[in-house]
Amino acid sequence: MSVSRHWSLRKRLTIIASVVMALLSLAVAVLALLGVHGLAESYRTDQITNASLKVVHLVERGVLPAVLPATEVKYVQVVNSEGRVISATPALLGQPPISHMTISRSAMRAGREECALPAFPDTCMIVVAFRVYREESDWTVYAADTAVPWYVDPRLVGLLAAGSVLLVVITALGTYRIVGKTLRPVDDISAELAEINVTDLGRRVPVPAAHDEIRRLAVIVNQTLDRLEKLVEQQRRFASDASHDLRSPLTAMRAQVEAAMLHPEETDWMEVSHAQLDSLERLEALVSDLLMLARLDAGAPSTRELLDLSQLVTSELNRRARRVHVSRVLEPGVKVYGDRLRLARMLTNLVDNAERHASERVTVTVAQSGGTAVLEVLDDGTGIPPDKREVVFQRFTRLDAARSKDAGGTGLGLPIAREIAREHGGMLTVEDSPIGARFVARLPLADT
Ligand SMILES: Nc1ncnc2c1ncn2[C@@H]1O[C@H](COP(=O)(O)OP(=O)(O)OP(=O)(O)O)[C@@H](O)[C@H]1O
Ligand SMILES: [Mg+2]
Repeated sequence: MSVSRHWSLRKRLTIIASVVMALLSLAVAVLALLGVHGLAESYRTDQITNASLKVVHLVERGVLPAVLPATEVKYVQVVNSEGRVISATPALLGQPPISHMTISRSAMRAGREECALPAFPDTCMIVVAFRVYREESDWTVYAADTAVPWYVDPRLVGLLAAGSVLLVVITALGTYRIVGKTLRPVDDISAELAEINVTDLGRRVPVPAAHDEIRRLAVIVNQTLDRLEKLVEQQRRFASDASHDLRSPLTAMRAQVEAAMLHPEETDWMEVSHAQLDSLERLEALVSDLLMLARLDAGAPSTRELLDLSQLVTSELNRRARRVHVSRVLEPGVKVYGDRLRLARMLTNLVDNAERHASERVTVTVAQSGGTAVLEVLDDGTGIPPDKREVVFQRFTRLDAARSKDAGGTGLGLPIAREIAREHGGMLTVEDSPIGARFVARLPLADT
């Protein structure tokens, strides 16, 4: 694994920015060197050309001295048509012609850079040659000076290198500071998140003022914490309600047994047993409801089979007689994919409630509308006020009217029914009705 993977974002961005700046500076320095080099070369060539022209003038006027003055250019020679050096600057006195450059017939002059000439074995020279007509033949004036090196001047290279290093250092420091400043809110968020646990879910991460991605992250983290806090609160309430509901029948059972044991001779043990059985039944129902909810919450897998909803309703309603009349309006052929036991449980929970609250009749309807199967349980009781229509689906909720009617309910029937509807890809709601309560479950139809 590469070492760079362990580097912080700050370090990585700083290195990337510095490398990019170093490459840019290098490119700019090379371009600058090339430009200055070109200028210096053409300036030097011009100097050499000017010096040669002066000598050409002397040759033409016939006033050529044997030793030429070395003013701007140190190396000048005049060579006659036989290749003999007629005149030269002091540095070239006694030397053979420095170059053998030929000038084309059509031109008066030639010039180029020549390296390792016999007179200058260690360096490259810019050499310019001029043709002059003298004593009825062609003479040549050669002038030369050292070529400009690639770096032009060591001070220029030093300046460019220092400038580049300075730019890279400024870029590195700047990037390190800016990235550090930008990422500080992320560090703050991490530090706060690291300290949050289940006991202090009320804490929130700091939201930076700038409207950027980090602010969005902080807002989303806080929204997630809000949801988590609510969920944990719900779970706590659920656990405490569940323990409370489990304890009541246990306390009752204990009180009955203790009272009976105080006066064993006067106790009707059959009556005590019946009372104990009632409490046990209640406990059993509660525990099985809790288990069912836990399974639904955990998303425990359920079976899926093709079911005719009307047939399912018929067989469930035929199972036992009801206190009130249950009418059925069942459309045949409404098919859904589902878990038979769970859907039957949903129906029983709804019909049990309806039966408990109805005054005379309950109506169960199965129909299909659009792509949905609709199962309705309607009663003619007191109904559920609109502001309580969502509340009744919360766990352990029992409205006041129900508490007085039947002490046996736990308030888990509707939450279980809704979870079953949801688990089948549908929904269970309370809807408007002229009289009583109307529970409507909508489930996706099976594609047949
Ligand atoms: N058909 C209905 N008419 C009027 N109120 C209803 C009806 N169905 C449910 N409710 C109200 O909703 C509450 C919650 O119902 P739910 O089925 O969850 O619990 P429960 O019937 O009290 O107890 P459990 O079903 O667990 O034995 C009931 O206590 C009752 O107040
Ligand atoms: Mg119920």
